[in-house]
Amino acid sequence: MSSQAASSVPVAVLISGTGSNMAALIDAGQTAASGYDVALVVSNVEDAGGRAIAAAKGVQTLSIPHKPFGKDREAHERAVDAALRAAGVEVVALAGYMRILTPWLVRAWEGRMLNIHPSLLPLYPGLDTHARALAARDAEAGCTVHLVTEGVDEGPILGQARVPILSDDTPAALAERVKTAEHRLYPQVLGDFCKGLARG
Ligand code: GRF
Repeated sequence: MSSQAASSVPVAVLISGTGSNMAALIDAGQTAASGYDVALVVSNVEDAGGRAIAAAKGVQTLSIPHKPFGKDREAHERAVDAALRAAGVEVVALAGYMRILTPWLVRAWEGRMLNIHPSLLPLYPGLDTHARALAARDAEAGCTVHLVTEGVDEGPILGQARVPILSDDTPAALAERVKTAEHRLYPQVLGDFCKGLARG
């Protein structure tokens, strides 16, 4: 194993859908200086588009559907957690993972689980962030990478990127501009975070 590989932190990405941030994280992780490597992609949705993308990039993927667990959210999370541990994962990156986590999983990965949210937190936690930014006539929007804590979209902020809001913007056009910023921000913040962990 090269010294670069030895200092590369194994990361899992949790997705539910398209996986465009996941793809950006994988691509950056496969460059030598990134500080991390995506070792596993887990989806709670069997046919999430991101799984095929990850597989094509040579990353192991797993589908752990939540439906068979019914209302027992923690039981589903214990299955996910077991898969993460079995793969030797040290850091978890949520990327469009459409599950509200129980305190059990949050505590199990406290300080080692990141999320990306499509707004300039603390503005607009939750859904429909772009429509809300437009309705408020904000001059700019953006995205935030933060540590995951028990409050939804509330954890300590690790990095943000800003984009302008244009006079003729629609939520879809704004979403696309923010996504482009997300794909730059998330790999950079995750890389810095993992390099910090590796330094101890
Ligand atoms: C992104 O906008 C992210 O900020 C939010 O969910 C979306 C996921 O998109 N948490 P993708 O699956 O990465 O394309």
